[in-house]
Amino acid sequence: MHIRSFEWADYAAVTAVWQASGREVVPRAELAAKLTRDPELFLIAEVGATLAGVVMGTYDGRRGWILRLAVHPAHRRAGMASRLVSELESRLAALGCPRINLLVLPDNLDGLRFWQALGYLPMPDVLCTKPLAPPA
Ligand SMILES: CC(C)(COP(=O)(O)OP(=O)(O)OC[C@H]1O[C@@H](n2cnc3c(N)ncnc32)[C@H](O)[C@@H]1OP(=O)(O)O)[C@@H](O)C(=O)NCCC(=O)NCCS
Repeated sequence: MHIRSFEWADYAAVTAVWQASGREVVPRAELAAKLTRDPELFLIAEVGATLAGVVMGTYDGRRGWILRLAVHPAHRRAGMASRLVSELESRLAALGCPRINLLVLPDNLDGLRFWQALGYLPMPDVLCTKPLAPPA
């Protein structure tokens, strides 16, 4: 298993892993905006020539965030997500990040078990969100 930073040539394979995992795909334009900030925090995992796992991290200068973690169903329970998260944690720590947050849907019990196995504990906070109109 090999972990490395995302390259644009990976986009179709990353999309396929997100779709096979029931995760929303990040559109190209959104991803391009993210990659202008911290491209080294968007990681993929390969087994041979097959891209089988992905995780997207961000750092806002105060907290790290983990988003869109997914491993293709054919490659699960082999430690791939743990390796991806461990590498992302190392890269965030190298940037001086003191704490990582993430969001899990309440009905994603497998996801919650995974995160708890890695030491991520639930908080009682409720996510609030509001879309902004594009600039005039
Ligand atoms: C959650 C997910 C990323 C885990 O990927 P993975 O590569 O299979 O995870 P790992 O092999 O690194 O698992 C590490 C540990 O987490 C726990 N774990 C992982 N998947 C689990 C599951 N389905 N049920 C219970 N515990 C689980 C186990 O303790 C596991 O260790 P073990 O296999 O030795 O028992 C993968 O199942 C997935 O892509 N799910 C769909 C998308 C998703 O839910 N993403 C995360 C939500 S934010």
